[in-house]
Amino acid sequence: MMERPDYKRYTVTSALPYANGPIHIGHLAGVYVPADIFVRFLRMNGEDVIFIGGSDEHGVPITIKALQQGIHPQQVVDKFHGIIKQSFEDFGITFDIYSRTSNPIHHETASAFFKKMYGAGQFIEKVSQQYYDEATGHFLADRYITGTCPHCQYDKAYGDQCERCGTSLNATDLINPKSVLSGNAPVLRETRHWFLPLDQYEPWLREWILEGHKDDWKTNVYGQCKSWIDQGLQPRAVTRDLDWGVKVPVDGADGKVLYVWFDAPIGYISATRELRPDWEKYWKDKETKLVHFIGKDNIVFHCIIFPAMLKAEGTYILPDNVPANEFLNLEGDKISTSRNWAVWLHEYLQEFPGKQDVLRYVLTANAPETKDNDFTWKDFQAKNNNELVAILGNFVNRTMVLTHKYFEGLVPQQGELTPGDQAVLHEMKQIPSRIAISLYAYRFREALAEMMNLARLGNKYLTDNEPWKLYPADKVRVATVLHISLQICAGLSIIAEPFLPFSAAKIRQTLNLPRYPWKDALLCNWLEPGQKLNPPELLFEKIDDETIQKQVQKLMDTKAENASAQAVTGLKPAKPEIIYEDFTKMDIRAGTILEAEKVAKTDKLLKLKIDTGIDHRTVVSGIAAYFKPEDIIGKRVSILVNLAPRKLKGIDSQGMILMAENTDGTLFFVTPDEGVQNGGDIK
Ligand code: MF3
Ligand code: ZN
Repeated sequence: MMERPDYKRYTVTSALPYANGPIHIGHLAGVYVPADIFVRFLRMNGEDVIFIGGSDEHGVPITIKALQQGIHPQQVVDKFHGIIKQSFEDFGITFDIYSRTSNPIHHETASAFFKKMYGAGQFIEKVSQQYYDEATGHFLADRYITGTCPHCQYDKAYGDQCERCGTSLNATDLINPKSVLSGNAPVLRETRHWFLPLDQYEPWLREWILEGHKDDWKTNVYGQCKSWIDQGLQPRAVTRDLDWGVKVPVDGADGKVLYVWFDAPIGYISATRELRPDWEKYWKDKETKLVHFIGKDNIVFHCIIFPAMLKAEGTYILPDNVPANEFLNLEGDKISTSRNWAVWLHEYLQEFPGKQDVLRYVLTANAPETKDNDFTWKDFQAKNNNELVAILGNFVNRTMVLTHKYFEGLVPQQGELTPGDQAVLHEMKQIPSRIAISLYAYRFREALAEMMNLARLGNKYLTDNEPWKLYPADKVRVATVLHISLQICAGLSIIAEPFLPFSAAKIRQTLNLPRYPWKDALLCNWLEPGQKLNPPELLFEKIDDETIQKQVQKLMDTKAENASAQAVTGLKPAKPEIIYEDFTKMDIRAGTILEAEKVAKTDKLLKLKIDTGIDHRTVVSGIAAYFKPEDIIGKRVSILVNLAPRKLKGIDSQGMILMAENTDGTLFFVTPDEGVQNGGDIK
């Protein structure tokens, strides 16, 4: 039932978020809310547990952001580390430490880890060809190269992916590759890197995961691991040519850093070192249970690569479980930082002050535990109004108000119990163990539903017994009903703590109760008759349509902005780069149309006589569908005069009129400004 598993202590980690943007509800639902519930519960249950968090401050996206903004990567991570840390704190995520990977202790730890593996010959060295920017002297990470996608011709595809057609690419696939740093075409150069030979770990991984964790890892996690392993593991480069990160601690590796996915998980260890002098027992003692909370995009790193590193290093324990969640969508669309399609935690905290528990509740009730799930503002409102307000809040509030009204805020004496009372108390005693079982199995939705069942039980008990109808005729019975209701409130203040810590504290404060350990949730007699209660405090309040509409509108605005940005990209992609000399070969002049007539037997062509300043010449132009001859006589135009003459319908065409075309196909002349004389050079 509630007996403790055979572990002496827990090390609970939560994925280190990249410090290049703030935290959104997807992060919270996937990782931080379940991890915090788990840890709060373990602490209440008397476990020795450390909860590790921190910012992941390395990696190419951070250096690109710095480049775009013309600042140093350290400034980027300083800004977001600050925002993230503060918002977690305000939201009640109770890390024992929230560290960061730019700390010197992390550089030292990651460096030592690499060195130990290097010394033991656990890497293979390979020389390969990679793009290099000769102007700036940098090897270029895939994201530092743009070019034309060979599949859809989009001209701003990255070296690893085309964001228009979604194809994943190699940098060498790009047509006309360009360095983001200088704009120049990069050249291929040889570079040396260290690889973790994952293929060699395959038999061990099969045994450890596919056999050893078949029954206790979530099916989504197990399934992803199986598919990776079955596809055959390849050696993975663990170093990069980059100047932001943990320097590769090997002679002759100047300008190289550890790959961000090599250093970041070691950040869990560095943070533990920072937290506790006795850190080693949390990472090296077999009686420690290591649990990683992550999102599904991190599974391969936490289940395959990091464990292979830990195993290779040799002195560390391996994760006991990796309860990864699927993704949370927002109003039916994938959450996206770049499209600003998200509910940002720091904004929520500002716009819904004091409502941390509402979001914690909604995200847990909707947690994407087994499949992707959707967050909608309507559902947020409904869960608040129909569940938190109508059930939990209503029950606690009615109990308190009635006790103040009938018994001057003193806990009334319990009289004789009816079978109904006994059934309620019996039911109440079952709930804490059910929650514990669900939580030890990482089933947070189920655990939350059990917690709410106690509130439902209380609400129904009060409604069934209607003490307001018995007063003052049967004061003894009223006293009993309220006594039991108050005990249920007290029980709620204990079992709600992991899920709704702010509300649990409010209930405790009203009831004048201390923080109880989890085992005391079974007591059911926390309140003594005559004990003084504090005035009731509202736990939850209704959220009105207007508030929700404002949030929905905010998202609709984002959608509109994104759509108009899409319309712009709906223009033809830019053509491949030319050099200045290509342009200067063209002789373009300002001119005037002197005569215009239809070319016989065609619908498309007009025969024009143009004053080019240098001469009068004939040009045949395919604009008959757009312009009537009589309308364009006297029109000023730009004309390419050194285009080789061509015969069209038997007429010698000597040059070309410049036209501008909209995406809807409408055509316009490129008319020189008034002051320009015919023959004026356009350059
Ligand atoms: N920064 C990564 C992400 O947001 C997660 C890193 S987890 C850790 O996807 F292992 F590196 F710590
Ligand atoms: Zn493409």
